[in-house]
Amino acid sequence: MALIRIQDLTVTVPMSDREKVLVDKVNLTIEEERVTALVGGSGSGKTTTALSILRLLHPALMIKNGIIFYKDNDLVRLPEHSLQKIRGKDIGFVFQDPLNAFNPVFSVGYQIEEVLRFHTNLNKTQREHRVLELLDLVGMPDPKQNARNFPHQLSGGMRQRAMIAQAIACDPKLIIADEPTSSLDVTLQARIIELFQRLKKQIRVSILLITHDLGVVAHLADDVAVMTGGRLVESGSVSDVLERPKHDYTKELMQALEF
Ligand SMILES: Nc1ncnc2c1ncn2[C@@H]1O[C@H](COP(=O)(O)OP(=O)(O)O)[C@@H](O)[C@H]1O
Ligand SMILES: [Mg+2]
Repeated sequence: MALIRIQDLTVTVPMSDREKVLVDKVNLTIEEERVTALVGGSGSGKTTTALSILRLLHPALMIKNGIIFYKDNDLVRLPEHSLQKIRGKDIGFVFQDPLNAFNPVFSVGYQIEEVLRFHTNLNKTQREHRVLELLDLVGMPDPKQNARNFPHQLSGGMRQRAMIAQAIACDPKLIIADEPTSSLDVTLQARIIELFQRLKKQIRVSILLITHDLGVVAHLADDVAVMTGGRLVESGSVSDVLERPKHDYTKELMQALEF
């Protein structure tokens, strides 16, 4: 079953003399309880596509055309107050750089609790309990102590775990993770990928994973979509696409990454 169906998504940005198309008639389906990888070179439109789902685009960018179906709603046209109920609740976002995504002046525990305060009826004691449970679930060492820490006091890997804890706090249907390991060293990257693998089994959630790493795609993803120059050129199950890539760009990408 499809959880999200993106149809003909086109995103543009005005330039001095013309309109630049950043995402060009993209069609992408994210299936329930499956991991969909979105791959492609830098500047191919992956982040813009992902941010469009929650309408978190830079104000200069415009969704010119297209429909994003989620539960009979079109997220492109949903009123802002309705979308706010979905952002962070039904759909959690894990950003590339958790140091910038967290607010520096509040502890990470407080910021995870804030999401619960906004989206659930849990009381304060229940929320505090849930924060510790979430931090434990994502493999944060000493959850009690680390919940009190400010973002800059945590290591990169711990911050990324805290961000994932925040993204899954309200039992989302979908986690969007935009290159969640690219700010981490190789060992930590592997640990975070293990964490996603575990979450995929433990909590029933779909994951849209943006990544450069075809090794990660082969390991973690069920489906894969390939973008280049704002267009989605190939999509399908990971085994089909990686074993029998159809589009020249996919073949190039596999060669470039020595896959
Ligand atoms: N705020 C913006 N203003 C102008 N151009 C932008 C903006 N954000 C992204 N772009 C352009 O959109 C294209 C796609 O970017 P992006 O979605 O970030 O690609 P990716 O995530 O695949 O690296 C790039 O050419 C980028 O320069
Ligand atoms: Mg990007």
